[in-house]
Amino acid sequence: MKRVAVFLSGGGSNMVALLDDMAKGGHAAMPCVVLANSADAGGLARAAERGVPTVAVDQRPFKGDRPAFESAITEALKPYAPDMICLAGFMRILTGGFTDQWRGRMLNIHPSLLPKYKGLHTHARALEAGDTVHGCTVHEVTAELDDGPILGQAQVPVLKDDTAEALAARVLVQEHLLYPAVLRRFAAGDHTPVILQS
Ligand code: GRF
Repeated sequence: MKRVAVFLSGGGSNMVALLDDMAKGGHAAMPCVVLANSADAGGLARAAERGVPTVAVDQRPFKGDRPAFESAITEALKPYAPDMICLAGFMRILTGGFTDQWRGRMLNIHPSLLPKYKGLHTHARALEAGDTVHGCTVHEVTAELDDGPILGQAQVPVLKDDTAEALAARVLVQEHLLYPAVLRRFAAGDHTPVILQS
């Protein structure tokens, strides 16, 4: 049974989707801890409600020293002995020093059809570009931001007069389907990409 640490910064809707799918059974993974980079991340309470241990590693004392922040994360994880990490709305950039330790064992969900629109404001950028299809991607995390082998994608049509908010909401629905499907497959040792069309 693979032990999964889920990292988040905000409300944790992706974390909830992952935990609820792992709770369904027939899954090769189980959540061992949910970690946030601030104690007031809303997702921590939602994880605790589901009986999953939580830990917050506040990034502020480490301002400007990413390796020190990452060492604090590594220390905080030790008691839970994770085999892999799922970044789920974790809004901190991790250095190669950390990503190398977890190479092949750390996933992330990004709200675009990578390699398009790495970074932020992905929905607005897709609208700006006049794209007719947008979506989300789950990928293995490498030292390069929003790069790394793609493990799944969900496509979402862009509608006439779409706003970034409306598009983001439709993409988020697909994120909650894609990420659990990818983790279920990945934890079972199958890296065949999951492709969802909505
Ligand atoms: C989601 O849009 C996800 O694509 C991005 O973080 C956002 C918030 O996710 N990585 P969550 O609701 O906190 O899971």
